[in-house]
Amino acid sequence: MPHDFMPGLAGIPAAKSAVSDVDGERGVLEYRGIRVEELCKRSSYLETTYLLLFGHLPTRSALERWEQDIALHRRLKYSIIDLMKCLPEQGHPMDALQAAVAALGMFYPGRNVTDMENNYWSAVRLIAKLPTIVAAWARLRRGDDTIAPRDELGFSENFFYMLTETTAHPLWVDIFDDCLILHAEHTMNASTFTGLVTASTLADPYTVVASSIGALKGPLHGGANEEVVEMLKKIGTEDRAASYVEEQLRNKRKLMGFGHRVYKVKDPRATILQGLCETLFQTCGTSQLYDIALRVERRAGELFKGKAVHPNVDFYSGIIYEKMGIDTDLFTPIFAMARVSGWLAHWLEQLRENKLFRPDQIYAGEHDRPYVPLDQR
Ligand code: ACO
Repeated sequence: MPHDFMPGLAGIPAAKSAVSDVDGERGVLEYRGIRVEELCKRSSYLETTYLLLFGHLPTRSALERWEQDIALHRRLKYSIIDLMKCLPEQGHPMDALQAAVAALGMFYPGRNVTDMENNYWSAVRLIAKLPTIVAAWARLRRGDDTIAPRDELGFSENFFYMLTETTAHPLWVDIFDDCLILHAEHTMNASTFTGLVTASTLADPYTVVASSIGALKGPLHGGANEEVVEMLKKIGTEDRAASYVEEQLRNKRKLMGFGHRVYKVKDPRATILQGLCETLFQTCGTSQLYDIALRVERRAGELFKGKAVHPNVDFYSGIIYEKMGIDTDLFTPIFAMARVSGWLAHWLEQLRENKLFRPDQIYAGEHDRPYVPLDQR
C-alpha cells in the first residue's frame, strides 16, 4: 500500500489519548480538559500529577494519600548513590539521570506491567525519586554529600532543600511548583512518543522513562532551555539583542526557545512563565537576562512577521531557574522530573490497549546488488 511520507511524522496521530490537548491556533493547553492557567492558579504539581495519571482531580483524602505515598518513596538506595559516584563529574546531569533511572529498574522487583498495583508503585517511585536523583547528582559532582529528603516538606520545597540544605523563599517554591506544572505534560511530543515506543514492547516503566529522558535531552526538545540562557548570556547586554537576532536569522540559524511544531501563536506556557518572571523579579530584584529576553522577543516578533514562530516553553523557564541560583545544566533534568508524570500517564493509558509500534518505511535503496569479494573492491 503506498503511503505519503511525512518527515518527523508531522501531523500523523500516533495514539488516541485523553491525557492532554493542545489547540495550536488559539494557544490553549489542557490537562485532562483543565486549562494549565487554571492549574497554575489553583493546583499544585503533585495534585496535577494525580490528575494526569488517574484522569480526575483527587478528593482531599486521595490527595493526602498520594502526597504521602510520594513523600515516603523519595529516598534513594545507597547503591544508586554509589553508582552515581562512579560517573564522571563533568558528565551531563541528563546522562547521570538516565543512567540512575535505568538502574532503578534493577532494584525493584515485579516488573510485570499487567499488574496495576505494581504499576501504581512504579509510578510513585519514579515521580518521587527523580528530584532526589537530580539533587544528589548536583551535589556529588562538586564533592558534596547528598542530602536526604525530609518527609514533612512539600515536593518543590524538598527539592530546594536537597539541592541546597536550606529552605527556599516561599515565593520561589510556589513559582517553581508552577514551572513543574507547566512542564508536566504536552501531548505527543518526541520524548513521550519515544517512551510509548519502548512501552509498546511491554518493557518496564524504568526503561520507558529512561528512553524518554534520552529523547528529552536533545537541543531541539527539552535541551533548548539551557541553550536559551547560554544565548542570552552570550548577547550580554540589552542593546546587543536586536543585532544578535538579525544576525542569527540572516545566517539561517535557529533562535533557541522559539518555534513549535503545533503552536501557531505564542505558547501559553511561555506567557505564564513570563508572568512568573515578572512576579519573581518584582520581589527578588531584576534580571538582566530577562531584560535581554524581552528585547530578543520584540525583535524576533518584527522579523518573523507572517511566520508562525513565537517563544515556546523553553524561552522563559531557564531565566527563572537562573535567578534561583540553579546550575544551567540542571534545567533539562528539572524538565524531566516534571515531565515524568506525563510520560507515565501516557504509559498507563497505552497499556490498556497496547499494540507494538512497528511503523513502515519507504525504501529508497537499491535491489539485487552483486556481492563483490573483498580483493576485487
Ligand atoms: N529560529 C528561527 N527560525 C525558526 C525557528 C527558530 N527557533 N523555529 C522555526 N523556524 C523557521 C524555520 O527556519 C522554518 O522556516 P522556513 O519554512 O522558511 O524554512 C519554519 O520556521 C518552520 O520551522 P521547522 O524547523 O521546519 O519547524 P518544526 O516544526 O520542524 O520545528 C522546532 C519545531 C524543532 C521546535 C523548531 O522551531 C526549532 O528548532 N526551535 C528551536 C529549538 C527549540 O526552541 N526547541 C524547543 C521546542 S519546545 C520543546 O520541545 C519543549
